[in-house]
Parts: sequence; C-alpha cells; structure tokens
Amino acid sequence: METLRHIVVLVHLVGFALLFGAWAVEAVNRRFEVTRLMHWGLLIAAVAGLVLAAPWGIEYDLNYAKLGVKLVVLVAIGALLGIGAARQRRNGSVPPALFWSIGALTLLNAGIALIWR
Ligand code: HEM
Repeated sequence: METLRHIVVLVHLVGFALLFGAWAVEAVNRRFEVTRLMHWGLLIAAVAGLVLAAPWGIEYDLNYAKLGVKLVVLVAIGALLGIGAARQRRNGSVPPALFWSIGALTLLNAGIALIWR
C-alpha cells in the first residue's frame, strides 16, 4: 500500500513537472502562450492529488486545511488556463499578468506542499 502511494506521489510530481516545465519553456522563449502540455500537467496533478487526499497507505493524519487550500489554488490555475486558452484563440495572445500568475500559483502550490506540514 505504501509503495503504491509513493507511485501515486510520483505521478503527482510528473503532473507538476509537466505543468511548470511547459510554462517555464514558454517564459524562457518569451512566447507567453498557454499550451496543451500545461493542461495535461494540471489534469495529472489534480487526479493524483485527489487520490492522495484520501488517507490510505499512511500512518499519520493528513492536513486537510492544507489540501483544501491546494485544491482552491489548483482550481484557480485551471480557470486561468481556460481563460488564457480562450483569449489566445480570440486575440492570438495571453495577457502577461495571466501568464505569470499561472507559473506563480503553480510554484505556490508546490511551496505549500513542501513547507506547510
Ligand atoms: C498545481 C497543483 C499542485 C501542485 C503543483 C502540487 C505539488 C505537490 C508537490 C511538489 C508535492 C510533494 C511534496 C512532498 O513531498 O510532500 C505534493 C504532494 C502532495 N499533494 Fe500536491 N500539488 C498540487 C495539487 C494538489 C491537490 C489539488 C491535492 C489534493 C487536494 C494535492 C495533494 C497532495 C498530497 C496529499 C501530497 C502528499 C503526498 C504524500 O506525502 O503522501 N496536491 N504536491
């Protein structure tokens, strides 16, 4: 059970890596676009995160306040990705504040995961 949980954590981290990595590629190349890989990363992190939010394969209590905050941040990132993709289709670009918020909120959720125990 514990090993299975570690595998789901790995999948969760792959989702995070895809979302943040896809965003970083856009930022470094100064394209500032919302890409399909960001949506896939968020979806993978969300599904694995929800599976991990259930208390199985562990002997300690989960911090549900922290998980609730992470879920709210994840929904906010999803909304930004959706709005960004729609704006991109219509205008050909994403507002800079929206683009930077996607990276900042992704990093915030990783920070919450690691720092808030
Ligand atoms: C973009 C959104 C998210 C990002 C970037 C993210 C990032 C991370 C990272 C980096 C870790 C590893 C930290 C560690 O080793 O303890 C982690 C763990 C975890 N995440 Fe997320 N997360 C996200 C969304 C969520 C959501 C929505 C949930 C559930 C509501 C969730 C539940 C968990 C749980 C339960 C763990 C701990 C795994 C364990 O030690 O058993 N995450 N997350």
